[in-house]
Amino acid sequence: MSLQLGRQIFGEPANARNVLTPEQTGALLNDWVLNERLKLHMVQVGGLMGAWASEVEKLNEEDCWRWKMAGLLHDADWDQWPDQHCKKIIEHLEQLQIDPEVIHAIASHGPVHFGVDPITKMDKMLYAFDELSGLMHAYSLMRPNGYEGMERKGAMKRIREKTFAANVSRDDIRDACERAGISLETLVDFIIVHQAGFTSL
Ligand SMILES: [Fe+2]
Ligand SMILES: [Fe+2]
Repeated sequence: MSLQLGRQIFGEPANARNVLTPEQTGALLNDWVLNERLKLHMVQVGGLMGAWASEVEKLNEEDCWRWKMAGLLHDADWDQWPDQHCKKIIEHLEQLQIDPEVIHAIASHGPVHFGVDPITKMDKMLYAFDELSGLMHAYSLMRPNGYEGMERKGAMKRIREKTFAANVSRDDIRDACERAGISLETLVDFIIVHQAGFTSL
């Protein structure tokens, strides 16, 4: 099964900055994603994207929402149409005339799978947060107090431990950090501080 998208251009330049409202995004998510675990993953990645855009990139509110929306919707079709991931959500957002940058970020969240390289900072951070967020969440679930008291050292140990959350690609995490020019430690610290706060839409 190939998920290669077979193209590099997404959306229309004329639709730049067109977004869904948070309510519309939540409705789409609830409609398409029935699996609560997957929904939480998307809420977490969306939360991380929005927080990074705001706190690190210092972007304005409108841009922060574009980053968050990309995170919230990046796996929208994975639950019900895994063989069409992420083609289906991309085509849907194109029909809705959504910002091409948001669509490109979604299209490039797995360069090996989809054949689209992350280009913008939004693209690169979505790629970087995606797998790492899931691994960190798995780590929180095996700790008695979840994210509370979590330390970088323990998280780094789990990342090195290949049998832990074995479905999370360490190659992707390494590649994403390199492309973003951000150390793994920085991302781990950011997720430790923020991820517990992202629990619902
Ligand atoms: Fe995905
Ligand atoms: Fe994901």
